[in-house]
Amino acid sequence: MHKQVETIQNDFASSIQKCLDLETADKIRVDLLGKKGTVTELLKGMKDLSIEDKKIYGPLLNQLRDSINSQIEAKISQINKEIMNKQLLSEKSDFSLPSQKTKTGTLHPITQVIYEAESIFKELGFVVAEGPEVETDFYNFEALNFPHDHPSRDMHDTFYLDTKENHLLRTHTSNVQIHVMKKMAPPVKVIMPGKVFRSDSDVSHSPVFHQIEGLYVDKNVSFANLKATLQYFTQRFFLKDTNIRLRPSYFPFTEPSVEVDVQCVICGGKGCGVCKQTGWLEVLGAGMVDPNVLKNVNIDPEEYSGFAFGMGVERLAMLKYGIDNIKLYYDNHAYFLEQF
Ligand code: DAH
Repeated sequence: MHKQVETIQNDFASSIQKCLDLETADKIRVDLLGKKGTVTELLKGMKDLSIEDKKIYGPLLNQLRDSINSQIEAKISQINKEIMNKQLLSEKSDFSLPSQKTKTGTLHPITQVIYEAESIFKELGFVVAEGPEVETDFYNFEALNFPHDHPSRDMHDTFYLDTKENHLLRTHTSNVQIHVMKKMAPPVKVIMPGKVFRSDSDVSHSPVFHQIEGLYVDKNVSFANLKATLQYFTQRFFLKDTNIRLRPSYFPFTEPSVEVDVQCVICGGKGCGVCKQTGWLEVLGAGMVDPNVLKNVNIDPEEYSGFAFGMGVERLAMLKYGIDNIKLYYDNHAYFLEQF
């Protein structure tokens, strides 16, 4: 038995020394310590030995098994280390290479236009206010001087939510004028961006779109102030020398009312397809706040006057960026949005 153990030890010593890969290491382990391995077989044979022999060979074989086991483990970890080192060397990183660009999102052009308009009006002392999208008839129409059953209500294709409570989706941001004036005493100088809803949908109309409303109420606010404010805005938003022109119009909540055109930003006023050869583009509605509206919110029209204006954000963005189809705003394709 001593001899056998010695042979096993010698054979093992030379084979483990030669061993260079994990497969061989595993084979050595199975041959010696596996279910039918040489050492395992010897251990199994112990039961047939006399008590004295068991006392001698038991510890000897156990020691042999443990020593083989730990040497194989050491070999395996050494081989693994070598494999890892080789891999690290072959995969050496070049830290001077430029990094891969990660794609970041951008603000939607509609949001960008709203932010830009807000910041221009802030320069003139306006503050930003918001109001509800689900509204009552009072704020959306009644208080803005749209009488019941008056044809001016037909200008807005309204989504009614319930007729009993008179809830509707606001058709314009002018509702916020009423909320603000009910809460604040003049001077009031606010800019009110938001979503509005109308039940029409075709190539140039979406049932949901965005408006920016403006309101300035104070003592002695004049039509000249309105004109100067709009001129300042359009020249900051479009080009420095963009001219505006005002055409008489009608809105129930302003008197007088105007529609405001900017000189065509595409052709500079010479006439092109976008401005239909007129040289002008309509961008917003405006006017002096109707005294009836001031009365509806308990502001004395004898003491105060004001101007208001409202513009479509999709239209502003279209003209600024040369976008020819409003559907592009809502498809949200990255290749479109990435350009802004
Ligand atoms: N609310 C109007 C609309 O949606 C736009 C508008 C016109 C707003 C004149 C105003 C204004 O504040 O003075 O068509």
